[in-house]
Amino acid sequence: MANFTLTVNNQEYQTDVDPEMPLMWVLRDKLGLVGTRYGCGIGLCGACTVHLDSTPVKSCMLRISDVQDAAVTTIEGLASDTGLQAVQQAWIDQDVAQCGYCQAGQIMSAAALLASTPDPTDEDIDAAMAGNYCRCGTYVRIRAAIHAAAADTRKANGQNEVSWWTPEKNTVEVSS
Ligand code: FES
Repeated sequence: MANFTLTVNNQEYQTDVDPEMPLMWVLRDKLGLVGTRYGCGIGLCGACTVHLDSTPVKSCMLRISDVQDAAVTTIEGLASDTGLQAVQQAWIDQDVAQCGYCQAGQIMSAAALLASTPDPTDEDIDAAMAGNYCRCGTYVRIRAAIHAAAADTRKANGQNEVSWWTPEKNTVEVSS
C-alpha cells in the first residue's frame, strides 16, 4: 500500500492503495466516482475512458502509480458551474443513449475530440471514437451528437454555420 495525492475534477484527494491498482478502481471504489464504468478490463471497449491532462485514456489500464501529477477528469467533472458542456447537451438532445452503459466513456472521448478538433468530419469522429464500443449500436446518434455539439459551440461563439452538416438533415454535405 502507498499514499497517493490525486487531482480529480479540480479537487484534491488522498488515497491509500496498492500502487498497481488501476485508476478506474480508485475512482469507483475509493473516491466514489462511479460514472466511470468497468467494461472489458483490458483497454478495448472504452467504457472506462477519462481524461488525463485533457487526453482520453483507458483508466482500467492505467496504474494509479503512473498517474503522478496529471489532472484527471471524469464524467462527473465535465460540466462546469455554468452548465453542461455542449457535448453533454447534444447527447441529451439527440437522445443518444440506449442502455447507457458505454455512454460516459463515449462522451469523454467525444469531449476530447471536440477540444482538439472543433469541427470534426465524419472521418475525424470515426478515428477518435474507434476505441469506444457500443453494444447497443448507437454509433449513428453518437456521430450526430458530436456534429450537433460542434454546431452549437460555433453558434455560441458567434461563428457562422458550416454547410456540411445540419441537425435537420442529420447528414453531411461536403462543399468547397
Ligand atoms: Fe448500451 Fe452503448 S448504449 S452499450
